[in-house]
Amino acid sequence: MRFSPDFVEKVREANNIVDVIAPYTQLRSTGSNFMGRCPFPDHNDKTASFSVSEDKQLYNCFGCKKSGNIFTFLQTFNGYAFPEAIEFLAKRANIALPERDEDPREKRARELRDGVLAANRLASSYFQDRFSKLPPGHPVRVYATRRQLTDELIELFGIGYSPDEWHGLAQLFRARKIPLEVGERGGLLKRSTRAGAPESHFDLFRGRLMFPIVTTAGETVGFGGRVVGEGEPKYLNSPETPVFHKGKILYGLNVTARYIRSMDEAVIVEGYMDAVSLYGAGVTNVAAILGTAFTPDHGRLLRRMTPNVVMLLDGDRAGIQGAERSLAALLMSDLRPRGVILPDGMDPDDFIRERGVDALRELIRGAGDLFTILLTRHWMEGYRNTAQDKLRVVEAAAQTLAAAGPALFDKPILDLFCAEMARFLDVEAAWIKKTLLGSLAGRPGMQPQGPAPVGSVKLSTAKLGPKFSDRSGDEVAPEEVLLEREDLYGQQIDLEGISREELVALSLVLQSKHLMQDLSEASRDWSKSGASKEDHPIAMILDHPDARKLLGIALRRYGQQPDAFATLTASLLGLLKDSRTLSTALQTAQGPRATVGGSTASGETGATSFGASSAPLGDSAESDRRRMGRVMTAIQRRRKQADLNVISNKLREKNAPEESQALMQRFVELQKEIRELQALERE
Ligand code: UTP
Ligand code: MN
Repeated sequence: MRFSPDFVEKVREANNIVDVIAPYTQLRSTGSNFMGRCPFPDHNDKTASFSVSEDKQLYNCFGCKKSGNIFTFLQTFNGYAFPEAIEFLAKRANIALPERDEDPREKRARELRDGVLAANRLASSYFQDRFSKLPPGHPVRVYATRRQLTDELIELFGIGYSPDEWHGLAQLFRARKIPLEVGERGGLLKRSTRAGAPESHFDLFRGRLMFPIVTTAGETVGFGGRVVGEGEPKYLNSPETPVFHKGKILYGLNVTARYIRSMDEAVIVEGYMDAVSLYGAGVTNVAAILGTAFTPDHGRLLRRMTPNVVMLLDGDRAGIQGAERSLAALLMSDLRPRGVILPDGMDPDDFIRERGVDALRELIRGAGDLFTILLTRHWMEGYRNTAQDKLRVVEAAAQTLAAAGPALFDKPILDLFCAEMARFLDVEAAWIKKTLLGSLAGRPGMQPQGPAPVGSVKLSTAKLGPKFSDRSGDEVAPEEVLLEREDLYGQQIDLEGISREELVALSLVLQSKHLMQDLSEASRDWSKSGASKEDHPIAMILDHPDARKLLGIALRRYGQQPDAFATLTASLLGLLKDSRTLSTALQTAQGPRATVGGSTASGETGATSFGASSAPLGDSAESDRRRMGRVMTAIQRRRKQADLNVISNKLREKNAPEESQALMQRFVELQKEIRELQALERE
């Protein structure tokens, strides 16, 4: 909630910065100021270089140069958000929070939350009390010792024990006048369903080591309970309650936020024990996600403290998949995620025990980009350096990144990812970026749309001339009309003998969603027009029968799933008898390479470079259409050239004079048209 400036002032005046800082370091009065060792853990101050001014209500460290007021202290030291600092200080000074404008429903909800928090507080102290009363040698104590839970750790993390009793907590609630329903809503009690049960509710956590889950503001919102020894489930966690949302909290931050803040790095683990164990071993900037992937809420929480995150991943498949599900949320929150895959299926706790904390620190220091880890250890699994595999990898990356939404488009980090993939996949970064963006942007309404400028070709029936009547046809996918359904399957598509121009045209359409969309619209118009197959837009571009077939399949798949455009090409390569021709053309059509060489997979070399352009494909509809325009011109020229050859052959035969006359006339016309097209191509 927002607080008025007056309220903020009131809270500031009611708290003395000296009292707020005093619990964290020993302060001695030097007359005007208080001096002590700097409490910030990164400083590790040996001399008393930290000064607190009571008059000015400011702190200042001469050693590490941290300075600020009572609010910034709580923000930097405890990782509080500003409102949390206000609330903390208001409570501390017994100032009622301002009356909120809440309707009865909101009021009930808030009261329920307050009630659950109070129940949790009581439960937490009950569990801690029961743990402290365990006699030496009790199996639970022995277990705790074996897990290296020192008294200090137990105290710091508020670890407790829920005795193996059915009604211990329920009875305590009854005695303290906490309604059992509130305990139930808080996930601590369960209602008995057994007829004639002696009590209406029983304890949910029984015989477990209890880890309270505490916010940075010090509120206990839930619990994790580990079975002592063997048993199922190993960890019992609070259900989602009015105050507990596992996607919004990180375990341990109440203790570790200040270290994360001052070390400017957070180490993220998966379990309660791992967090406590790392902390105990001296890796104090740690926090745990609670059996869920990293969420944007987690991101916001951490981002207040640091952008640097290192995920410690169990080496199993689940660990990697968890990281994959977490990547987008991490990036969305502007965090810089790195990762470590722990060897031999160890978790961080195991690792420390077996190899020592220094080895772990070493791994953390050398942690690579989480993206690269996913790339090399997951997406490139089984990679064989084929075009299909390259596309598959880019698509996997796109799928993972897509969850971050369009915000990611402009982030410089995306370029780094592309460069990284380009390196590993041995292709141009521009191709990666285009393919990636094509996939990321593959939702309706996200691509820029505009009128086609002069010189670009928008495939449409307008070009097909006036012979088309408007037929209100049934909605049949037009390319199926063109291609007979049976043709589509069961036999491999063979691009053998395809012309260079056609190959480029095919590559362009397969790589530009704009062009594919144009083609799709033209095809729809075609089907309404009732024109012949040879006038289908695909037939206008391509002569090669299998190339037509391929583009027909592409068009149909695109029509079914326009959003999946990025995967389209990958899905097509599998249909080809030999995918090398197309996959090389796909890369050549992309970027600068084509401008240089002008040679294609078919081995032909040509002077024209119509496939190339400085702008990456898919950047804008205009530039894609311009490129298509150039290819179409070349295709037309080639066709006319073929016609010309036919005519000149015919002219060599003995013909009737008027026939020769007509052929001659056509020959001259064609020559003129070809010259015009050549001129167009040179533009
Ligand atoms: P693990 O089974 O790897 O447990 O689950 P762990 O953390 O190594 O536990 P110890 O070391 O045996 O005590 C990893 C995390 O998954 C969640 C917990 O958060 C746990 O720490 N988990 C696991 C559950 O929530 N419930 C379970 O039954 C098991
Ligand atoms: Mn473990």
